[in-house]
Amino acid sequence: MTFLPAGVAEREVGHPQRIAGNGERSNLAAGEGSDALRQRHGACAGAIARIAFEGANPVYRGDDCAAHGNNDPQRQELAPAELEQRVAGRSGHIRFRCVLGPKNCSRSGRAKSDNMSNKMWGGRFRTGPDAVMEEINASIDVDRHLFREDIAASKAHAAMLAKQGIITAKDARAIAHGLDTILSEIESGNFKFKRALEDIHMNVESRLAELIGPSAGRLHTARSRNDQVATDFRLWVRTTVDGIDAALRAYQYALAEKALAHAATVMPGFTHLQTAQPVTFGHHLLAYVEMAARDRSRFSDARKRANQSPLGAAALAGTAFPIDRAMTAKALGFDKPMANSLDAVSDRDFVLEAMSAAAITAVHLSRLAEEIVLWSSPLVGFISLSDRFTTGSSIMPQKRNPDAAELVRAKTGRIVGALEALLMVMKGLPLAYQKDMQEDKEGAIDAFAALALSIAAMTGMVRDLTPNVARMRAAAGEGYSTATDLADWLVRRLNIPFREAHHVAGRIVAQAAAEKLPLDKLPLKAMQAVDKRITKEVFAVLSVDNSVNSRVSLGGTAPKNVRREAARWLQALGKRRR
Ligand code: ARG
Repeated sequence: MTFLPAGVAEREVGHPQRIAGNGERSNLAAGEGSDALRQRHGACAGAIARIAFEGANPVYRGDDCAAHGNNDPQRQELAPAELEQRVAGRSGHIRFRCVLGPKNCSRSGRAKSDNMSNKMWGGRFRTGPDAVMEEINASIDVDRHLFREDIAASKAHAAMLAKQGIITAKDARAIAHGLDTILSEIESGNFKFKRALEDIHMNVESRLAELIGPSAGRLHTARSRNDQVATDFRLWVRTTVDGIDAALRAYQYALAEKALAHAATVMPGFTHLQTAQPVTFGHHLLAYVEMAARDRSRFSDARKRANQSPLGAAALAGTAFPIDRAMTAKALGFDKPMANSLDAVSDRDFVLEAMSAAAITAVHLSRLAEEIVLWSSPLVGFISLSDRFTTGSSIMPQKRNPDAAELVRAKTGRIVGALEALLMVMKGLPLAYQKDMQEDKEGAIDAFAALALSIAAMTGMVRDLTPNVARMRAAAGEGYSTATDLADWLVRRLNIPFREAHHVAGRIVAQAAAEKLPLDKLPLKAMQAVDKRITKEVFAVLSVDNSVNSRVSLGGTAPKNVRREAARWLQALGKRRR
């Protein structure tokens, strides 16, 4: 595997039972399959793409220009170039064709026939939609990535309907079998997603009717697309959060390993980006382990609240059929059914919460990314990244750019932006379901894809980076970084209040600066000129090593502490998984 960060994600983001198994849980995965990314990088990139949303199955558009005059617009296939454009792209951007302008191909004014109205809800409609209507209404470009969740939820629903005597066992068996067929069709890239069928729910149901005939129509008894989509998306968020958690664990492990190796590597600690006090590099890295731990705990909290079943809330009011919501909830691995049908179909707080956790995580990653950019600048020279995590310049032969870190920093904008966008979508919506909510998935799927890739890239960079120990040590001693140690010594030895000691130390620093000397090279006489009680023992506390070794307070930077903490983390995180 040459693409290490993605390799990380393959192991960590992936769910072995899904990759290997054909068990029931395999239906709960997010959109993996024969995606473009996976093909490009081999299986190693598959896990990222699983959270991303590149599918091999393009969406067929009934409104394609070439479809004019064609009585079956759903059958119209894309031109190869356009098809390629749509499935290309590494992190799964969805590319839309412009529908306006002279080549609009609007259906307005075109002769319509009954059979162009929607098969699923077209009872009271006499004609099909305008091309622009179809373009703005369809969500299949995005929600096709929820096919596993949609099929799993439908299977659970059908089994429940049969158990409750709402449909026959025979119909339920036919439905389950048909849904399995559809699942394998989609997974193998042999499914035709049709734009005219709007979304994943109707694409699946329509294909089911083709496969098993009229009993397919019984599947939608006692449910609605409103509870369906909420169920599917909760399942998707749950799986995705689990993948992110595993990726963050690997990132923490990489940080803790590097921290252990550099428990005693000194570097300057900064406040205001001014040299403050010496710290250890290991201590600095462990700070990010702690942040990631809180990120994981936020995701775990979000998962708890997401893991409740909306299924059976139906359109908004529940149903008169004698359904068993606890049964479907259990079958899908939810903790319980949601208590209020209006709430169940109309809130998206579960994804907002997961995206909030994602936004905070991205901000944390971005800060380390920024430090990597800074540290690897020749101006600072604290670390170097290898060829595997740097790029060259097309014009300046000497360049070695930390692009991955820069891109992690930038992707934070997308991730935070997606959260803000959905908050804005939701803020003015009356209960219950409003079509606005269909806009919930694209940003979330994109944001989680960006986050998964960012975590993988950061994990890779943490493993890859080599500190320049000599340069860090030299910098750690610059800028009078042990002035606080001097003040502390004065407090201990002379038993003077810290404020007074601070003042004395400040005057000594000023003297050293005037003589252009580091603190530990300033003659004792010069110090005694500031305070005659100072003895030569003071020099023992002025070295960088003494400074860090002395900071053994809980959470302090001493190598001893760092070794203990790094070992504790490595133990808690378990084995490294590559
Ligand atoms: N595509 C829709 C969405 O993502 C599914 C629900 C549609 N419901 C409806 N009443 N039109 O929100």
